[in-house]
Amino acid sequence: MSLIMATFVTLASCFTPAPCAAATVSAPRPLRGNYTLISAQGKFELGLFSPAGSLGDRFYLGIWYKNIPVQTVVWVGNRATPLSAVASAELRVSAADGNLELVGPTRASALPVVVWSSNLSSSSMSSSPGRNTADIRDNGNLVLVDGGNSSNVLWQSFDHPTDTLVPEAWVGENKLTGEYQALTSWRNAQDPAPGMFYDTVDPNGTSEFFFMWNKSRMYFRSGIWTGRIFATATEATRTMLYNTTYVETPAYRRLTNVVYDNATITRIVLDLTGQVKVYVWVRARQSWQPFWTAPAVQCDVYKLCGAFGVCDQRSQLPCRCPPGFAPVSEEDWTLSDWSGGCRRRSRLTCTHNGSTTDGFLALPDVKLPDDSHAVGAAKSKAECESTCQNNCSCQAYAFSAGGGGCTVWHGEIRNLEQLYADSGVSGSDLHLRLSEAGLQDLGVSGTNGKKRGRTLWLVLGIPLAGVAAFGVSVILAWRILHARRRRLANEKGSSLVVYSYGDLRAATKNFSEWLGGGGFGSVYRGVLKQQKGDNRTQLQVAVKKLESLGQQGDKQFRTEVSTLGCIQHVNLVRLLGFYSSDVEKMLVYEYMPRGSLDRYLFGGGASPSWRERYNIMVGVARGLAYLHHGCHDCIIHCDIKPENILLDEDMSPRIADFGMAKLVGRDYSRALTTMRGTIGYLAPEWISGQPISAKADVYSFGMVLFELISGRRNSDGYSEVEAIGSWSSDSWTFFPVWAAGKVVEGEVAAVADPRLRGNVRPEEVERACWVACWCIQDQEAQRPTMAQVVQALEGAVQVNAPPVPRALQHLVHPARLHQSSYTLTKITHSD
Ligand SMILES: *[C@@H]1O[C@H](CO)[C@@H](O)[C@H](O)[C@H]1NC(C)=O
Ligand SMILES: *[C@@H]1O[C@H](CO)[C@@H](O)[C@H](O)[C@H]1NC(C)=O
Ligand SMILES: *[C@@H]1O[C@H](CO)[C@@H](O)[C@H](O)[C@H]1NC(C)=O
Ligand SMILES: *[C@@H]1O[C@H](CO)[C@@H](O)[C@H](O)[C@H]1NC(C)=O
Ligand SMILES: *[C@@H]1O[C@H](CO)[C@@H](O)[C@H](O)[C@H]1NC(C)=O
Ligand SMILES: *[C@@H]1O[C@H](CO)[C@@H](O)[C@H](O)[C@H]1NC(C)=O
Ligand SMILES: *[C@@H]1O[C@H](CO)[C@@H](O)[C@H](O)[C@H]1NC(C)=O
Ligand SMILES: *[C@@H]1O[C@H](CO)[C@@H](O)[C@H](O)[C@H]1NC(C)=O
Ligand SMILES: *[C@@H]1O[C@H](CO)[C@@H](O)[C@H](O)[C@H]1NC(C)=O
Repeated sequence: MSLIMATFVTLASCFTPAPCAAATVSAPRPLRGNYTLISAQGKFELGLFSPAGSLGDRFYLGIWYKNIPVQTVVWVGNRATPLSAVASAELRVSAADGNLELVGPTRASALPVVVWSSNLSSSSMSSSPGRNTADIRDNGNLVLVDGGNSSNVLWQSFDHPTDTLVPEAWVGENKLTGEYQALTSWRNAQDPAPGMFYDTVDPNGTSEFFFMWNKSRMYFRSGIWTGRIFATATEATRTMLYNTTYVETPAYRRLTNVVYDNATITRIVLDLTGQVKVYVWVRARQSWQPFWTAPAVQCDVYKLCGAFGVCDQRSQLPCRCPPGFAPVSEEDWTLSDWSGGCRRRSRLTCTHNGSTTDGFLALPDVKLPDDSHAVGAAKSKAECESTCQNNCSCQAYAFSAGGGGCTVWHGEIRNLEQLYADSGVSGSDLHLRLSEAGLQDLGVSGTNGKKRGRTLWLVLGIPLAGVAAFGVSVILAWRILHARRRRLANEKGSSLVVYSYGDLRAATKNFSEWLGGGGFGSVYRGVLKQQKGDNRTQLQVAVKKLESLGQQGDKQFRTEVSTLGCIQHVNLVRLLGFYSSDVEKMLVYEYMPRGSLDRYLFGGGASPSWRERYNIMVGVARGLAYLHHGCHDCIIHCDIKPENILLDEDMSPRIADFGMAKLVGRDYSRALTTMRGTIGYLAPEWISGQPISAKADVYSFGMVLFELISGRRNSDGYSEVEAIGSWSSDSWTFFPVWAAGKVVEGEVAAVADPRLRGNVRPEEVERACWVACWCIQDQEAQRPTMAQVVQALEGAVQVNAPPVPRALQHLVHPARLHQSSYTLTKITHSD
């Protein structure tokens, strides 16, 4: 959030001290300078803002969520005509014609000018336009009402959407005026001026919606409204958190979202990637999580990456330049505007008299651009190459010995897309023209095939190296794991004991000593008597009565359990045996006297030392790495949280409840997501409904790391204000965000649990913070594997500064880290 917005909030929430809700803009009472207007229930705020991350020299009239700390603007008035200062700016009702207008200085004019107006003609005005008033409603609608009749709405922002549709707003057509309500993307992350992407209802009158590039080229169509959904809508759309309806009347046809759950904040945005995304505000994570996207495939957006840009579905940033090329504007690219595309780093040296030293670089496995020329005559790759080489306007060629023959491209190349053979769609080799110098810079001399291939691999490897920035030798990790596995396999006594109901009832004194309960059943303490040689010993156990899987067959249960029985690792709670009948099932585990990590960490007793905490981090990482990589089948835990990390006598951590996902089967995710206390640890893919991989555990582990560092629940938030005793729920800062900021600033000691009183190893705190931040990346591919995490925590590899998770980026752009936490704190003081 930009500082200026924070200042509005802090110093001037309303222009009358109270009641805020009554405030409106009218001719005698304009909204001046940095003052804002807040809707009756405090949901939305109207005022001037400066886009987050910008220099703060451009100001726009906007509407944003009052209570969301990440600047989220849902409407902009003067999109393309920013003000240059706020002090003398004014949003007013014109006494002359009753229009709502924004007046202020611009770059071109130091004297205030009208930069935006509701632009109503005098014929559509009321009889007493000078008495018109404007206010902001709780659904985010800015309305200008008739001074003589307050139920007559003259103008409203819902009729003029920018890039966002909030519930109750609409897109469509006003049939009486012929005006369209369409979404147009921002130009870039800091400029709300209309960008390239546009989403409009079919001008021909059907209920279909079209996504257009530059209002000229359609790249996605919704299909027509079937009465309940759009024809192309997927299953996910039907179960969206809100309801979409298309309504046609003689006055209008429009698509609206009906809220049926007031507690959930959602918005639909046509964003900079040309996709329409439904976002849900996840309070526990203090971020917007994408929920649904169309078109689902990023690279289906027309010309997203501009000329010569390569769209890559698998990378976090959708666009990159081919080797030998660079963005035409680096600055635009960093602001998520890729439309400028790429240009060659080194100019072609082609002259039309037939002599050229240009060569070609193969881009393997790409989707070929469509606007090509087929050249029938060329019978070989060499001939095809020379056809292209001999014409200076030829930019690239592709040769396929099969059907395609020789194809060449003249002019700029668009919609290049990286494909991946492992995804079942393999592409072709495109040979891009580069100058001799350009090829030499890439280490390719001339068009020597062999060398070219290797260099290209290296060059292409760099964009994929986001994860490899971890600098990890996977081979080493595998060796260590394999060595460990062999050792474990040699240990004796891994067979499970099948207990009778009577055994377990006696051991637990009729299930009297309750240790705890999770989503899948209660756990009881017990003592089993054992015969070991001549000695009778007592074995302390924890007996888990499974509740959610009553119907599961006995046989299937035995199969699943026996695979779990083989899994033994020093950081995993050992399964000793089980009881199973058609009506009831129980698992018997070794007993962990110190209980679970949450009690130890948050329970109010003696706080674990840094040494102990770091050992716990490394131990849990090793246990998870073993589950993921060391077992025969990868086991995804799915529910890593402090409650499921137990501590044995020497404070060594043991992961409990692994394998539950397999045992419980299909109902697992439902059980999990409805379980209290779990939600803050769930990776975004749980919410977006994507398939769950081992990387979901990595995410949860990252969340646990942050809690071990801070000694408190991430979901409790963190506030510097708390230190002076005036903590309130509104000063909530998501700890991972705050911690990342401090570590960047070098204040490592500040991040650690204050109960440790600075008794920490700063390099370990820093390492743990970096690793945690890598683990909670939104994109699974960006998160390290658990094997890599182990190495990083052990200090075997260097950990680089992590990229900021995209969902948190607005809060923790490295350059603004300090400001972010500052801003959040400041808002508090005003409340
Ligand atoms: C907000 O406006 C008031 C009155 O013009 C001014 O005193 C104050 O300094 C302004 N705040 C900022 C941060 O510009
Ligand atoms: C208002 O009308 C003027 C002149 O017709 C036009 O230039 C301007 O873009 C319009 N402004 C808005 C906000 O529609
Ligand atoms: C006030 O405006 C509403 C909506 O345009 C209209 O239906 C109503 O008749 C008006 N009332 C008067 C008294 O003009
Ligand atoms: C709209 O109608 C015109 C004229 O009938 C037709 O040429 C055009 O293809 C239609 N556009 C779409 C998108 O269907
Ligand atoms: C977008 O369309 C406008 C008018 O149709 C045209 O002048 C402009 O060049 C187009 N922009 C690009 C990047 O092609
Ligand atoms: C919205 O969707 C929910 C769940 O699908 C459904 O129960 C409800 O009736 C719908 N409401 C409207 C107004 O369509
Ligand atoms: C949501 O809030 C609006 C306005 O406060 C209210 O009219 C509506 O009935 C609420 N809907 C539900 C389902 O609570
Ligand atoms: C072709 O152009 C090059 C570079 O301009 C020049 O050196 C060469 O003499 C030209 N050859 C002919 C045959 O014109
Ligand atoms: C190069 O190709 C373009 C497009 O096919 C063609 O118009 C032009 O005449 C060619 N130039 C030469 C020198 O062959």
